Amino acid sequence: MPEKKVFIQTIGCQMNIYDSERIGDLMSRSGYGVVDSADQANLIIVNTCAIRDKAEQKLYSLLGRLAPLKQQNPDTILAVGGCVAQQEGASMLSRVPYLDLVFGTDALDRLPTLVDRVALKKARIVDVGPRMSGENNQDPGAQISGGGVSQFVTIMRGCDNYCTYCVVPFVRGRETSRPPEQIIKEIKMRVASGAREVTLLGQNVNSYGNKEELVSFADLLTRVNEVGGLERIRFTTSHPKDLSKELIAAFGRLEKLCRHIHLPVQSGSDKILHRMNRKYTLAHFAERVARLRADYPGIAITSDIIVGFPGETESDFQMTLDMIRGIRFDSLFAFKYSDRPNAAATQFKEKIPAKEKARRLQALLGLQQQITLEKNKALIGTRQVVLVEGFSKTSATKEVQWSGRTSTSKIVNFRDDPIRDDQVRDDQARPPDGNDLTGKLITVVIKKGFFHSLLGASVTQSPILSRKGVQSRAA
Ligand code: 5AD
Ligand code: SF4
Repeated sequence: MPEKKVFIQTIGCQMNIYDSERIGDLMSRSGYGVVDSADQANLIIVNTCAIRDKAEQKLYSLLGRLAPLKQQNPDTILAVGGCVAQQEGASMLSRVPYLDLVFGTDALDRLPTLVDRVALKKARIVDVGPRMSGENNQDPGAQISGGGVSQFVTIMRGCDNYCTYCVVPFVRGRETSRPPEQIIKEIKMRVASGAREVTLLGQNVNSYGNKEELVSFADLLTRVNEVGGLERIRFTTSHPKDLSKELIAAFGRLEKLCRHIHLPVQSGSDKILHRMNRKYTLAHFAERVARLRADYPGIAITSDIIVGFPGETESDFQMTLDMIRGIRFDSLFAFKYSDRPNAAATQFKEKIPAKEKARRLQALLGLQQQITLEKNKALIGTRQVVLVEGFSKTSATKEVQWSGRTSTSKIVNFRDDPIRDDQVRDDQARPPDGNDLTGKLITVVIKKGFFHSLLGASVTQSPILSRKGVQSRAA
């Protein structure tokens, strides 16, 4: 029998990266080795995202590229899972004639059995059914693979908010939270596997536990903060309407909680926010941001924006640009609105032409680029505590550059060439001669600020001044 090898391709969000890891675990437990290219594999799994139509287009072009491989090796099993699989179901089999298996978001636990059935019966299978009783695709089980300094942990799934542009409630279903004990157990396992930082994932983490009457999100954070060996906690995503005072206070109370919040605003126009069913006004959003900044100077605030939502006039769009100028986010993810199956806005009239959406996106990104760059340059000369995630060698000089993130989630590349606190030099890097900084918290002075990252130099003073890494001016 040939060796069993699986290749897993993830398209889309952090939630999907987490699910792909779980797919990897499940398949390794049933005898598959995970490989990193499709042509080495006899099982190819594409884990998909349906949030915007661009992700869906990516899936179909990827499947197109995989067609010749499948032609050469007809025994290779090709499977599609995740949100698009859930949404499209059997119709994917007709659209992609060489596809063997379509499995939905709640069929994850059944994946090994489904793959066996495809292999044995040479059948094409669709499973987009609900989770069966006794199945629990949320329990971490006995092992955690992946390693990595920074790892994801899903704390809740689904969403009950029904923003009018969004497909999530339809493909991921109602909001359900995992019990805190299970989350803590998983985090401890991840720390044992090398994690120093976890990002807690959910569509709306602020409503964690509400329905099941579990602990509040702030209480969950308190428990996570107590896990030994863990250095940093992040979370995403927060809905502005539910950003509680209790959660804001947690940033001050919990020393491991990073000073960054992703708070998707979506638009700067109250009319559009209303049509999006976001349930807050721009004034409310601005008030929350002001509170966060007043309480925690230097906290990073990032956001998502959709341009060209149906009915968005030029004046609505200008309100969004004005809001961006006023709030000055650290960075932004911006998207052109796209119709999604079942989402209410798909039925809205006054669609914005593609060209106009593209123009608005460019204008917005241009503005934000300037702000991000200014904010990053403003950090020059500050000291930051960086959790090192790994290193790379620059191709030209083969110099070693370490890379990690600040508490505020900014990427910092630096050379481990300790300088005195009062010096900022530009010397040669030292190779990692056994001096592996991965997973360590290193104090770095920022020397340059770019759009995507910062360049720093480590300082001799190794004791960490503040675990939270809130910036302080270098002497
Ligand atoms: N069109 C464009 N962007 C969307 N998003 C969600 N649905 C859509 C859509 N139909 C964006 C939102 C959300 C992010 C994850 O994706 O900005 O916050
Ligand atoms: Fe979608 Fe809104 Fe739920 Fe976010 S809060 S997942 S945008 S419905």
